[in-house]
Amino acid sequence: MSNTIELIREEALASILDVNSSDALVEWRSRFIGRKGAVNGLFNTIGTLPRDERAAFGQRVNALQSKLTEAYDKREALIRQRALAMDLEDGDIDISLPAHPRPKGGLHPSTRTHREFQKIWADMGFHVYQSFDVEEDDFNFTLLNLPPHHPARDMQDTFYTANPKVLLRTHTSPGQIRAMRELGAGGSQPIRVILPGMCYRQEQVTARSEIQFTQVEGLAIGRNIRMSDLKGTIAEFAKRIYNPNAKVRYRASYFPFTEPSMEVDVECFLCDGEGCRVCKYTGWLEIAGSGMVHPTVLRNGGYDPNVWSGFAFGMGPERITMLKHGIQDIRYFWGNDLRFLKQF
Ligand code: PHE
Repeated sequence: MSNTIELIREEALASILDVNSSDALVEWRSRFIGRKGAVNGLFNTIGTLPRDERAAFGQRVNALQSKLTEAYDKREALIRQRALAMDLEDGDIDISLPAHPRPKGGLHPSTRTHREFQKIWADMGFHVYQSFDVEEDDFNFTLLNLPPHHPARDMQDTFYTANPKVLLRTHTSPGQIRAMRELGAGGSQPIRVILPGMCYRQEQVTARSEIQFTQVEGLAIGRNIRMSDLKGTIAEFAKRIYNPNAKVRYRASYFPFTEPSMEVDVECFLCDGEGCRVCKYTGWLEIAGSGMVHPTVLRNGGYDPNVWSGFAFGMGPERITMLKHGIQDIRYFWGNDLRFLKQF
């Protein structure tokens, strides 16, 4: 019996060298590895062998089958290649014809801006901390110094789930608490992170505001972090994302989770501060809300506010993407209109 296996192998491997057309290849296949071919014939004889020989025999037939299948695949490739070479030689194939263009996907404009942000912040030592889109009320509000019934909760109209304690985050700030608790090691380690992600607000959709938008939150916690660190860091970011001469100004503001709080404006780069429609003739564009992390928030994150301090900011990258590309309507971002998306 083992002899038969050898014979079939030799015959098959020798005869395939004479196979030079796809017809001959089909014939070869059915003769050796087809349903009624020689290899299957061997499998069919297994039942007639003494029991203790069957396993070893089966293994050898299997090996033969893979060997012949491999030979078949190689020969098929060779024949196809030869046919192609011949067509080329005869001029049956015109290789100067332009190829069919394949539609290619691209990165969403928001993704591009996010990557640019991430790169700049990474260069300044901030790594990305990914937080949740679906949040607990406590994290989105209460732990950020916005207890129930606090009037500032109305600043952000919220999408609640069926469970009133669970909502879609209205800003990326709840990630501040999560980052402090997870990375702070019980309030013993400094942190420098950005928290990018989608936010949701139940608002009237207009050309300027959407019910979903992205934010990039920043958080730095350390032992001697001061307001001047916040100002210097944001000014440096503005220089890197807009231009090396970008002028920045700070306005006193209010957020329950920072004290003091300030809003950051950059000189309008469309009119160089002269005043235009985009900056509403003020010469300035608002780029961030920010401030020193409120002691209550530090405590909720596990830090002792007598020892630790920090700054936080929140930016809206869509604004920047719109300005950069002259996009007039924020509804394009999530409208999934390929005519828009294809332009990037
Ligand atoms: N979370 C604030 C907003 O969405 C922005 C902010 C972040 C302000 C961090 C201060 C500090 O408006």
